Amino acid sequence: MKIGIIGAGFMGRNIAHLALAAGHEVMLSNARGPKSLSSVMSNLPGSQVGTVEQATQFAEVIVLAIPFEHYRSVPARWLEGKTVLDANNYYPERDGHIAVLDRFETTTSRLLAEHLHGARVVKVFNAILAQDLLQDGRPRGAADRRPPRAAGRGGRRRSQAAGRHAAGPARL
Ligand SMILES: NC(=O)c1ccc[n+]([C@@H]2O[C@H](COP(=O)([O-])OP(=O)(O)OC[C@H]3O[C@@H](n4cnc5c(N)ncnc54)[C@H](OP(=O)(O)O)[C@@H]3O)[C@@H](O)[C@H]2O)c1
Repeated sequence: MKIGIIGAGFMGRNIAHLALAAGHEVMLSNARGPKSLSSVMSNLPGSQVGTVEQATQFAEVIVLAIPFEHYRSVPARWLEGKTVLDANNYYPERDGHIAVLDRFETTTSRLLAEHLHGARVVKVFNAILAQDLLQDGRPRGAADRRPPRAAGRGGRRRSQAAGRHAAGPARL
């Protein structure tokens, strides 16, 4: 499978690592553009880099792992018909205050899904530390396997996203 990743920080890089180890094709993107990702490419052999638009064109499944305050920066039309794996969390001290979230009137994924109205948004990877993605993956059946949390409207997409992660470091 091809996986486009928006955000090449702790989460984006570690998810890319898992995906590559599992045999998927990966394109990473960030805010500053592909030229700033040369060190990422050398540390993640086999990964491709591109602009955010190229990453969205590259794949049907897109991981979004950026500071939540920037969620509107990705044009909705680029993600029309795509599955978006939403790893983002809201930290007011980092993202600035968003009143509807502070008042618990909505959720980060609902805001994202409203913005990306043509995409299927699945919340996943947000409740695990980036470092644990690499350390805690276990094969199917292991007693200490951590079940990933995933939430979204499409049951099949949700379980696919969860299953890929739970399958361990070699099987995103
Ligand atoms: N770190 C964790 O353990 C962890 C765990 C669960 C969830 N999360 C959540 O996952 C998200 C990412 O966290 P992180 O720790 O990976 O952050 P990070 O290390 O700070 O990396 C953020 C990445 O997002 C990119 N970015 C920022 N704005 C962008 C935009 N408008 N378009 C495209 N790319 C953009 C940055 O690009 P530049 O480098 O070019 O600025 C950077 O590559 C956050 O919402 C965080 O709360 C993090």
